[in-house]
Amino acid sequence: MIFIDACFKKPTDYTPIWIMRQAGRYMPEYRALRAEVGSFLDLCKSVKHATEVTLQPINYLNVDAAILFSDILTLPNAMGLDLSFEANKGPVFANPVQNEKDLLKLKNNAFKDMQYVYDTVQSVRGKLDKSKALIGFAGSPWTVATYMVEGSGTKTFYNIKQKLYTDPSFMHKLLEILTEQTKFYLEEQIKAGADAIMIFDSWANALPYEDYYEFSFKYMLEISNYLKEKYPHIALILFPKGVSSFLPQINGNFDVVGIDWSISLEYARDTLSHKYTLQGNMDPSKIHSKETIDEAVERIVDIMKGKSHIFNFGHGIMPTAKPELVKYLVEQVHKKSGIASR
Ligand code: CP3
Repeated sequence: MIFIDACFKKPTDYTPIWIMRQAGRYMPEYRALRAEVGSFLDLCKSVKHATEVTLQPINYLNVDAAILFSDILTLPNAMGLDLSFEANKGPVFANPVQNEKDLLKLKNNAFKDMQYVYDTVQSVRGKLDKSKALIGFAGSPWTVATYMVEGSGTKTFYNIKQKLYTDPSFMHKLLEILTEQTKFYLEEQIKAGADAIMIFDSWANALPYEDYYEFSFKYMLEISNYLKEKYPHIALILFPKGVSSFLPQINGNFDVVGIDWSISLEYARDTLSHKYTLQGNMDPSKIHSKETIDEAVERIVDIMKGKSHIFNFGHGIMPTAKPELVKYLVEQVHKKSGIASR
């Protein structure tokens, strides 16, 4: 699998590519199935449909890896938080976690109630071509905690930051619970057949630089140490979004660092490439036209020439992206990086 070779810094004939949120609303096939099934959560929980949606972008785009179709919030949902996805509002928890009493109500071993996820992993792996990797994933404890405490997406992170600064022991208790459950949740995905695991810290940039290690990165390291010790052959990707000043401190037992679109790729390469494969970091907005794509591909392939690299966007694809331009992007990355590697 070229994707796994790149994760482990082995030489590849061209740069592998996949797209964050590659299964989703920009694809007419996804919208049709989503309308048929009804709710997003029902789609995640149906093994048959989640398998189909996971495979849609593989067949259409010819990317080098599939990512399990699910969400980072299914774990807290299994822990007892009532989750819905509302149009124009995104995810909402009806009963957010507000105090120590709420922590006691969280279900232990919730990962055991997520058999539908493991069944989907197994079903996708069975159908996926042997040359393509399957990525399993979870949210970082910090990023998942932001939704559990705020009850929805937030621009200010006001509630969780009040907790963090006035009651750090509460925050650490919640983060520890999530860390434990996430370890086992990801382990089950590996046992079901995932070839790689990605941990999304999408709200890393809500934390000030001086608090990032203590309230987020430390917990991601705990998860990666646990997984790497037991499953060293499984590639591990961390995606700490929007924390460029933290790059020099990134260190630990994992293989790939996801670089978001706001970071200078030259700087990330010079700071991290001796140790890690980099994944990223095209601005998803540059999918606008063939010209903007050509320019972005040439630039990124040129910067990463001779280094281990997985091409991706620096965050999720937008629902407005044109599928045929995404397909064009994949072709161009394969073609231009293939020439560059010769
Ligand atoms: O193709 C893939 O990448 C796999 C599936 C995937 C989804 N969510 C499907 C989804 C993955 C890996 C995620 C991760 C996720 N979910 C993250 C981390 C990645 C990131 O983008 O930062 C976060 C923060 C979430 C939480 C979440 N789920 C939000 C904020 C939203 C609403 C956003 C929006 O665009 O409306 C979701 C819903 C969601 N997750 C959708 C999909 C395809 C849209 C659901 C729909 O069909 O309406």
